[in-house]
Amino acid sequence: MSVQKNSPVIGTDRIPIHVGIIMDGNGRWARRRNQIRTQGHLEGLKAAKRVVKAASDMGIRYLTLYTFSTENWKRTAEEVGFIMGLVKKHLRGELDFYRENRLRLRHAGDAEGLPPDIAAEIREACGDTRSFGGMQVILALNYGGRDEIVRAVNRLKAENAGRITGKDLAKYLDNPDIPDPDLIIRTAGEMRTSNFLLWESAYAELYVSDKLWPDWTEEDLREAITDFQKRDRRFGGIKTGSDT
Ligand code: IPE
Ligand code: IPE
Ligand code: MG
Repeated sequence: MSVQKNSPVIGTDRIPIHVGIIMDGNGRWARRRNQIRTQGHLEGLKAAKRVVKAASDMGIRYLTLYTFSTENWKRTAEEVGFIMGLVKKHLRGELDFYRENRLRLRHAGDAEGLPPDIAAEIREACGDTRSFGGMQVILALNYGGRDEIVRAVNRLKAENAGRITGKDLAKYLDNPDIPDPDLIIRTAGEMRTSNFLLWESAYAELYVSDKLWPDWTEEDLREAITDFQKRDRRFGGIKTGSDT
């Protein structure tokens, strides 16, 4: 892997274990080029592949990609259909990419609310990559943080009577074995989380980049990680060694 001139050097310590990315700005990327929005999603997928590879090479263990929210159904049928088709084609055609990089694919979100063929494709890809021990790529598709919590509460209620704790609830979230994200990146400049990992992001460091998602490269991820490494994470406590 070539390291370009001026590229920030990542310390090998403090590599975030779990990174979440709100991949935003595909539509704006297309509009700026007088292209249709779907062209932005195509380019966005290429960026996703670049960043997945880079994250895996950097030693990140979990990468959650916000791909389609529970609110994104509000878009035109054409755009929604295009995104679903893109996901399906990617999962069908890129198994070699997952195999070569030992990537394990997982899903976050409401699978029951997805078109059955997409849900089946995800199930299959998750099954095919199940034994791969490299980075886990969590596809957040038909995902909403509130929806995840509501689904968890309903399952929990059905199985438990009486008072529940936060720990109990967390067990019913979509991927309870995955540690909370350390870093959440949002591209395209918007200062909001748009219903991404509401419960899990309580102590995530936030990083917002103005660059549109289709323009993202390994270099941008490197910058985000270098920034993360300078953060002082206190989790509500006091900095070690601090006397003030
Ligand atoms: C992110 O890009 C992709 C999805 C939300 C599916 P957008 O499509 O939201 O792009 P903008 O925000 O309109 O530029
Ligand atoms: C968030 O982006 C969802 C995804 C990236 C999948 P949106 O474009 O849907 O978010 P808003 O509408 O700007 O909040
Ligand atoms: Mg957007």
